[in-house]
Amino acid sequence: MKNRYTFLQRLTHWLIALMVFGLLLGGLAFWALGYEGLSKMLGEDTAGMLFMYHKSFGILVLALTFLRLWLRRLTPAPAYDPPLGLLERMVGGSIHLLLYLFLIAVPVVGLVATAASGHPIQFFDAQLPSIIDENKELGATLFAYHGLGGLIVAGLLLIHIAAGLKHWKLKDGIMTRISLP
Ligand code: HEM
Repeated sequence: MKNRYTFLQRLTHWLIALMVFGLLLGGLAFWALGYEGLSKMLGEDTAGMLFMYHKSFGILVLALTFLRLWLRRLTPAPAYDPPLGLLERMVGGSIHLLLYLFLIAVPVVGLVATAASGHPIQFFDAQLPSIIDENKELGATLFAYHGLGGLIVAGLLLIHIAAGLKHWKLKDGIMTRISLP
């Protein structure tokens, strides 16, 4: 079928989507309860594991987002058939661009915030080298931006998903461009 993203583009879209939903839920729990609150509720081991997974999947989202940008250079987005109006193309394109931008900025700020706060940068069982010297004040500021970035991603996703659902109801072929089967 033509006018679809390639299989790898579609697969990475849905892998990133799954991971980002998990990361946003985790981030919300960290913000609401903090490490202390989560440790009290679930025990230190489980709380530590949640933080480890948040960091690991954050790094994966960063890597997969770069992969998707590279794939998009190799195979540009397919043409719309029937063509979309200028306004819809501009709004959709801007939301996609902002999503790419924030899916890079939010994990990068999280990585630097983690290192600055003196926490380990974990990638599943591995521990990556710290990128900067400890600076708690900088760490706290960057974590505030990391959280704000997460909120912005959630807002962009609300618009993106509402548009996706609208096109799904309209059966105009836009959803097929990105659907897996
Ligand atoms: C965390 C979740 C998600 C993220 C980060 C995300 C991100 C993106 C990005 C960046 C694109 C642009 C692809 C490109 O041209 O390179 C895209 C396309 C698309 N996404 Fe998502 N998406 C997510 C979830 C969803 C969901 C849940 C739906 C369905 C309701 C959806 C429906 C679509 C559709 C239909 C397109 C193709 C739009 C077009 O061809 O113009 N996405 N997504």
